[in-house]
Amino acid sequence: MLDRYWFGDVNRISPEAPVPVVLVQRTEDRLGAAANVARNAAALGARAGLLCVIGDDEAAERIIELLEQSAVESHIERDADLPTTIKLRVLSRQQQLLRVDFEKWPTHEALLAGLTKFEALLPGHNVVLLSDYAKGGLTHVTKMIESARAAKKPVLIDPKGDDWERYRGASLITPNRAELMQVVGRWSSEDDLRDRVERLRAALDLEALLLTRSEEGMTLYTDAGAVHEPAVAREVYDVSGAGDTVIATLAAMIGAGVSLASAVRHANRAAGIVVGKIGTATVEYSELFPDTPLRA
Ligand SMILES: Nc1ncnc2c1ncn2[C@@H]1O[C@H](COP(=O)(O)OP(=O)(O)OP(=O)(O)O)[C@@H](O)[C@H]1O
Ligand SMILES: [Mg+2]
Repeated sequence: MLDRYWFGDVNRISPEAPVPVVLVQRTEDRLGAAANVARNAAALGARAGLLCVIGDDEAAERIIELLEQSAVESHIERDADLPTTIKLRVLSRQQQLLRVDFEKWPTHEALLAGLTKFEALLPGHNVVLLSDYAKGGLTHVTKMIESARAAKKPVLIDPKGDDWERYRGASLITPNRAELMQVVGRWSSEDDLRDRVERLRAALDLEALLLTRSEEGMTLYTDAGAVHEPAVAREVYDVSGAGDTVIATLAAMIGAGVSLASAVRHANRAAGIVVGKIGTATVEYSELFPDTPLRA
């Protein structure tokens, strides 16, 4: 997905309809959705590859260019019938006037080709991160999890929607509060929450569930029990994309051989850093580990 921004001035109302006319002064493109997750992993020094389906258009070229700048290896499946997913925001004086979305479900053929590519890429990677934005790219998610687990690779999933049966057998799933509530219902206490999560983990054969709780931090549920990490943000400017930073950090840490419990603590710290930033939604390795230089 491409996150596109058009910034401009409004000085008049259109003669064609009672709407403002924006004279665009500046444009900005950022990697969005799974591409933003991949960018976050790469910023931490991980060798990150992104498998995704894009179209054959200008936005697709932009995505490839931005991935290159972010040092993400792109494994692209092209679907000529697909308009590359774009979320375009039109802004004037920090005010969003309109958002325009371009999106369509990829074709059956492109998704099958993506699955074949996934299997081929598996041996060269330590961790699989599936970022579900409900745009069709994860149509074959169940098959992907099966293959990854058969190859002994941990599978981390950022879920979407209420059909989690598709995520059966994943190593770790990272819902936020609203996403979890959609699946287990509203909880009345911490104990009730833990019971609901335990039932869900058992039913779906999930090794771990990390509930991200915005200003409340995050809680990790595994067979060893529940461990809570309070939020560590000192200043909060922009919380959008914090979830992407969390799962990207987890993947980078687990890929580097760090235990799940420590990976969660690092991810919580990374989230605390990223919510203090405006715009650039990544955390660099040197920000997370200022005292330990990154080995080549
Ligand atoms: N307001 C906040 N104050 C402090 N920390 C925050 C705040 N919002 C988010 N965080 C940190 O970021 C983590 C992820 O945030 P959140 O639970 O909102 O994920 P999310 O809803 O998936 O985010 P998004 O979808 O916007 O990427 C939290 O667990 C916490 O560590
Ligand atoms: Mg999220």
